[in-house]
Amino acid sequence: MKIFRDGILTGRVAFVTGGGTGITGGVARALTEAGAHVALVSRSIEHLEPAAKAINDARVGERGRNPTVREGANSNAEMTGEAFAVAADVRKPDEVARAISATVERFGKIDIVVNGAAGNFLCKADELSPNGFGIVVDIDLKGTFNVCRTAFAELKKNRGQILNISATLHYLGTPMQLHVSAAKAGVDALTRNLAVEWGRYGIRVNAIAPGPIGDTEGMKRLVPEPIKEKLRQRIPLGRFGMIQDIENAAVFLCSDAANFINGAVLVVDGGHWLAANSLL
Ligand code: NAP
Ligand code: COA
Repeated sequence: MKIFRDGILTGRVAFVTGGGTGITGGVARALTEAGAHVALVSRSIEHLEPAAKAINDARVGERGRNPTVREGANSNAEMTGEAFAVAADVRKPDEVARAISATVERFGKIDIVVNGAAGNFLCKADELSPNGFGIVVDIDLKGTFNVCRTAFAELKKNRGQILNISATLHYLGTPMQLHVSAAKAGVDALTRNLAVEWGRYGIRVNAIAPGPIGDTEGMKRLVPEPIKEKLRQRIPLGRFGMIQDIENAAVFLCSDAANFINGAVLVVDGGHWLAANSLL
């Protein structure tokens, strides 16, 4: 079922880190379905190229299924955006700069940045090495900063926006997640700070904090199979999130429907974190 009107992001260009896989891969595809052209950005071209191809093939397929569609005609096919794969490690500012330039060269501008690149593993705080703590902060937090900073000139020119993918782990004390909690708390701080500093340029900066999302790398790494069902039962809405839940929130926040939303961290978790102390 279609939730949004066709073409609500037509004419926009998005730069999506982590756009080849999982949650942010879904967000990138959803942005193209809403009409935006999208650069998929991460370290591994093996993740990015198949994801870009799937989006572009679906686009051609749409046109193929509707033989009445002509070039330039107003149709769903014309309203679907194109995807482009560009490898970069968000920890390396020079690679980020090259990816931003390649995107501008390809699509002419950038007006949406989605920061989804992240790393995670379970590790007790007393067993975590300085490099283990640092690597996650480097990807999640410093990587988000590197991308925002490098995209700033483009976003300022286009009165664009940033959407950071955060988490809810740091709202309480989540065991074995010190490194990610610290990094995502930083991402929330960065979201609010940039919303204030860059709002004056018409740049909106928001975040989505997903709860446990089924069928993702994050879930595989963090939730051992034996405790999965126990976790599900603690979610007030009675199910794990779906990637589509995050896609819908992202399309909404990137659309003009959210024109006055700036500095928000939208929790999309079925009420999970609020229920931590629930005895029901
Ligand atoms: P995922 O598929 O593993 O997504 C992580 C992405 O980050 C991958 O595409 C990876 O691609 C990219 N990446 C990692 N290191 C990078 C680097 N140094 N530079 C550039 N890209 C890098 O995992 P996911 O579970 O869907 O998570 C997506 C986002 O949602 C993350 O921000 C995560 O923290 C957040 N989140 C997930 C959940 C959940 O339940 N899954 C819950 C809360 C929040 P390459 O390997 O190609 O670099
Ligand atoms: N437990 C404890 N420490 C770990 C660990 C684990 N499971 N995995 C990695 N580390 C530590 C390493 O020991 C190393 O520290 P050291 O030098 O003191 O030994 C440090 O983290 C860096 O590890 P390395 O493997 O060199 O990092 P990388 O840059 O190649 O990979 C990761 C980054 C570790 C985050 C990797 O898991 C990754 O690429 N993740 C992306 C996908 C992902 O995590 N998705 C889920 C998103 S929610």
